Amino acid sequence: MRKHYREEGLSEAELAATPVEQFARWFLQAATEGRLFEPNAMVVSTADAEGRPSSRTVLLKHFDDAGFVFYTNYDSRKARDLTANPHVSLLFPWYTMARQVIVAGVARRTGRDETAAYFRTRPHGSQLGAWASAQSSVIASRAELDVSYAELAARYPEGEQVPVPPHWGGFRVVPRTVEFWQGRENRLHDRLRYVFLPDGGWRVERLSP
Ligand SMILES: Cc1cc2nc3c(=O)[nH]c(=O)nc-3n(C[C@H](O)[C@H](O)[C@H](O)COP(=O)(O)O)c2cc1C
Repeated sequence: MRKHYREEGLSEAELAATPVEQFARWFLQAATEGRLFEPNAMVVSTADAEGRPSSRTVLLKHFDDAGFVFYTNYDSRKARDLTANPHVSLLFPWYTMARQVIVAGVARRTGRDETAAYFRTRPHGSQLGAWASAQSSVIASRAELDVSYAELAARYPEGEQVPVPPHWGGFRVVPRTVEFWQGRENRLHDRLRYVFLPDGGWRVERLSP
């Protein structure tokens, strides 16, 4: 599989007109042929107001021309970083296909309606988990977390609607550049990058590997 993709490479001629379309093609291949545990897992890198970087994995839940959406806790480290500095990088590590996609852009919170609609699709236990965890804060013990969850489970038994936590929601990353990286022989990899233009279109440039 890896060999196949390495031999095929990636050329300007076969690229889609927009990076989202190109992403959709590669994402479909990653999901069906990539033998990846979670093809929608991506590494989100943020930087705080002083420029200190941090990275973590999250799951991509939606993408279209408006951007790439993930959900998280708005009090978490990443969310605090994004409030101070909305510039963000998303990296999809599709090593089994000798591929990576790197999105650079700006993150905005999703609207409450969109967040609520997604929250409703989550399993009951995950909904309670979103309430139980003060993500990124230091806690005394595992027991503290388990007690918090048990209290919530008692208050909202299975079948009862769990309200959307006010501190939880989505970020939509609006892409400014999207790089498609295809590993090739002899380190002569293909790197094609879409750059957003002021007129709303995209320019494609090739980068040296
Ligand atoms: C495969 C995988 C998927 C994850 N998906 C999410 C996610 O969708 N949202 C989320 O907030 N954290 C997710 N996490 C946990 C994050 O990596 C991270 O621990 C958490 O968001 C806190 O990050 P922060 O303290 O840097 O804000 C995931 C972790 C892994 C390994």
